[in-house]
Amino acid sequence: MSYITDYIEGNKQRFLDELFGLIKIPSISSQTEHKPDMRKAAEYWKKTILDAGADKAEIFETKGNPIVYGEKIIDSALPTVLVYGHYDVMPVDPVEQWLSSPFEPEVRDGKIYARGADDDKGQSFIHAKAFELMVKTGTLPCNVKFMIEGEEEIGSGSLKIWCADNKDLLKSDVIIVSDTGMIAENIPSITTGLRGISCVEVEVSGPSHDLHSGLYGGAVANPVNILCKMIASLHDENGKVKVKGFYDDVAEVGDDERRELAKAPFSLDEYKKSININEVWGETGYTTTERTGIRPALDVNGIWGGYTGEGSKTIIPAKASAKISMRLVPNQDYVKIAELFQSHFESLAPAHVTVKVTPLHGGQGYVSPIDSPEYQAAYKAVSETFGVAPVPFRSGGSIPIISTFEQILGVKSILLGFGLESDAIHSPNENFPLSNFYRGIEIVPLFYKYFVEEYSKKQS
Ligand code: BES
Ligand code: ZN
Repeated sequence: MSYITDYIEGNKQRFLDELFGLIKIPSISSQTEHKPDMRKAAEYWKKTILDAGADKAEIFETKGNPIVYGEKIIDSALPTVLVYGHYDVMPVDPVEQWLSSPFEPEVRDGKIYARGADDDKGQSFIHAKAFELMVKTGTLPCNVKFMIEGEEEIGSGSLKIWCADNKDLLKSDVIIVSDTGMIAENIPSITTGLRGISCVEVEVSGPSHDLHSGLYGGAVANPVNILCKMIASLHDENGKVKVKGFYDDVAEVGDDERRELAKAPFSLDEYKKSININEVWGETGYTTTERTGIRPALDVNGIWGGYTGEGSKTIIPAKASAKISMRLVPNQDYVKIAELFQSHFESLAPAHVTVKVTPLHGGQGYVSPIDSPEYQAAYKAVSETFGVAPVPFRSGGSIPIISTFEQILGVKSILLGFGLESDAIHSPNENFPLSNFYRGIEIVPLFYKYFVEEYSKKQS
């Protein structure tokens, strides 16, 4: 037993109770009815940071949701770690598929079940408790800053502006983020890449109002039929995205790096079994991990129009819509991609309908080096705790603000995630194993220790 595991053992239940307090706040950023909950979650974080031993913590107002900032500066000559996390969560629907209520956390089979249990309340809380541990045991080896936002799940619009306005306040030597995953429970891993994202909404309009499908059927173009056809044309038979110019800026990954990435353990059978599919799908010439790690993708997130209620209603709908997200790789620009999509999609529209494309939000992709002090520190911390060396891998997910941190603050992020694919983030029955929560709290203080060591090596 070390001072780390001793402290965790002595405070286990309280850590969990405090995390549950945060989870119980339904801070869904995409739904305006939850505005008051965003503030409650920010207040909760402020108190958490202060109670853990910060010198100060403040809530910063933005045009959107508040940002929580806190710090403990022990010596300005020492390096500074900036912790980033988000207190906002995704909507809970389809709510009827949850086995327990999404905002009443419950422990079953050693896992916390709740919206935000992993993404990102459970994961970010690891940092609050690791910070507390270091302060209370007198082992904090450097300065710490916290920056916790409430708009990650909707594109981090306010944080982008706030970072640009607060560069001095955010001065730091590394940003640490736990909002990604590991390859598997027994395969610790460090995320070295994130995909960018570009989100759009499309609307296809036909007649001025819904029409009787008997009186007009066969004589007037149906916007739902047309939207389906347009969407179907966005991929070719090899799984390639057909938006003109889509691949122009894709950073191709060389054979050597592909070989390196292929070393990360992966079982196609288990993958298929875990989501109950018979066959995988994707761009010809790439493996499943390459398809999510180093290649872009286009997916419809939702599609609606016409009558979807009980029984039948024989109409030709006046309109049809869809939400589409494009996952991007380094070098692809999300604004340019949204523009390419817009002109391509508009060009697909037949004369019978009008098409409107509205870009929503997005962010650039990210790759992190593995020869940096922070990677070495994370590598040592994870190896020591797991007894196994971590595997670097590129994740298919996106955290739009990470590339902004690099551009605006000039600071790299280390993506030390503790989530598992089975955590069902964004899905019903999201969960987070207690063991990952506590193990995270064990790893983070070691990361700080090794980061300060690696950092001073680099300076001397
Ligand atoms: N925590 C996720 C991102 C993530 C999950 C990265 C697992 C890697 C592995 C984050 O909260 C998220 O869901 N981001 C959104 C961003 C989008 C809404 C702009 C995403 O990836 O869909
Ligand atoms: Zn998320």
